[in-house]
Amino acid sequence: MAAQKFGAHSVGYEISDEEPNYLYSKSMARIKELGLAKLATIVKEDLMKADFSKPDMITVYLLPSSNDKIQPLLEKGMRKGTRVVSHDFEFRGWKAEKTITVEDNDEGFGRSHTLYLYLR
Ligand SMILES: C[S@@+](CC[C@H](N)C(=O)[O-])C[C@H]1O[C@@H](n2cnc3c(N)ncnc32)[C@H](O)[C@@H]1O
Repeated sequence: MAAQKFGAHSVGYEISDEEPNYLYSKSMARIKELGLAKLATIVKEDLMKADFSKPDMITVYLLPSSNDKIQPLLEKGMRKGTRVVSHDFEFRGWKAEKTITVEDNDEGFGRSHTLYLYLR
C-alpha cells in the first residue's frame, strides 16, 4: 500500500511461506501483479535481524509478544525521527502520538482495526 499509494520504497518482512496461506509467495506475486516490483519487495527472513536504521517509517502487525521482542531492537536501531505504526497492538511503555480506529470493509472481515502512531 505504501508503494502503491505513495510511491514509497517498501520492504516487507514475512517469514512464513507455509500452507495454506503461502504469505511470502502470495505477497511477492501480488507486488508483481500490481506492477510495483521496482518499488516494493518482501524479504523471507527474520524481521528481528533487519536493519532498522534505514527506513523513515516502520509499520508492524505483530502479536504483543513479538512487539515486546522487537521494541528494544527498534529503540537501538532506529534513527531519530523515524515513525512507527503498529496495527492492533501497542508498544508497552511508548506513548502513542496518535491512535485511530478504522472500520474495515467486507474484504477485511468487517471488523475494526486500531493503529498506533509513534514518533522516535
Ligand atoms: C499478525 S500476522 C500479520 C499477517 C499479515 N502480514 C497481515 O498484515 O495481514 C503477523 C505476521 O508476522 C510474521 N512474523 C512474525 N514474526 C516474524 C519474524 N520474526 N520475521 C518475519 N516475519 C514474522 C508471521 O509469519 C505473520 O504472518
